[in-house]
Amino acid sequence: MNACVRAVVRTAASQGHEVVGILRGYQGLIDRKFHRQPDGTPLLSMRCVSGWSRYGGAFLFSSRSEEFVTRAGRQKAIACLQDEKIDALIPIGGDGTINGAIALAEDWKGQIIACPGTIDNDLQGLDYTIGFATAVQTAVEAVDKIRDTAQSHDRMFLVEVMGRDCGYIAAYTAIAVGAEVAAIPETITNFPGIVQKLREFQNLGKTSIIMIVSEGDEEGGAEVLKARLETAGCPYKMRVVVLGHLQRGGTPAPEDRRRATQMGHTAVMAIQDGKTGLLAGTFGEKDVLVPFREAIASHRVIPDHLLELIDVVGR
Ligand code: F6P
Repeated sequence: MNACVRAVVRTAASQGHEVVGILRGYQGLIDRKFHRQPDGTPLLSMRCVSGWSRYGGAFLFSSRSEEFVTRAGRQKAIACLQDEKIDALIPIGGDGTINGAIALAEDWKGQIIACPGTIDNDLQGLDYTIGFATAVQTAVEAVDKIRDTAQSHDRMFLVEVMGRDCGYIAAYTAIAVGAEVAAIPETITNFPGIVQKLREFQNLGKTSIIMIVSEGDEEGGAEVLKARLETAGCPYKMRVVVLGHLQRGGTPAPEDRRRATQMGHTAVMAIQDGKTGLLAGTFGEKDVLVPFREAIASHRVIPDHLLELIDVVGR
């Protein structure tokens, strides 16, 4: 997200605009909290975002604002936008942020171009959301370490990765680590089928198993799945590792920095062109602008051939 903010500031400056950094997203608008220079000026200057791309976290901080969900909260935010003479807004976030932007647009006439910031990679019309590559990289590095114990101790590990409603992180991680099994929200988790597969693996002499579980699996997280597999007669001794928020931090992967930079630039240029109500994303190297409602109409679908790959190659 820091790389995106940097690109917004630098592109806006090149077009002669001033940028203010609102702290903690929509909640910061309600509370009138801005990023300030050492002398107290509430502007984000070209120089003050220097080097931001290489840092994880968010220098502008984040929040899940319950107040902004209410009309009264949004009215406070609008009062702030008007008082501060802000005429365009670039929120960065996932479906909650986009829903907030849609609601804000009902009562505020300024331009809103959002950028997709969520590790889940679950938005439509674009093939990437900021944080995804870093989250997958962290998960892969962790599973590689877990694999050592799985092998030395003849165990099966259920590793739970994030992804509230979407299995993208799980699917990419499973392919990259060569997981034998994956459970994601998009497919039905068939316990007898998995146990049968595990018995076949055992008969083939396989002594260790990695199963990647998306936290959003329709049957539950890794602990729940472990219990269900035990009941179904899983032949391996199982352990659970929940990676959790480990995946949301750390040095951003180059892919995240490059994509976030493109998105920030695209967002400013769209504002410059008089556009509003769009998500500035990327599709491969291309820049795309997707209407808000289209982006959140449903969760992004994982192509079947990627899911089949896990089955065919993870053996
Ligand atoms: O939506 C992004 C995400 O990282 C999900 O993968 C995860 O379920 C959720 O956020 C965690 O949110 P919180 O930090 O509020 O618990």
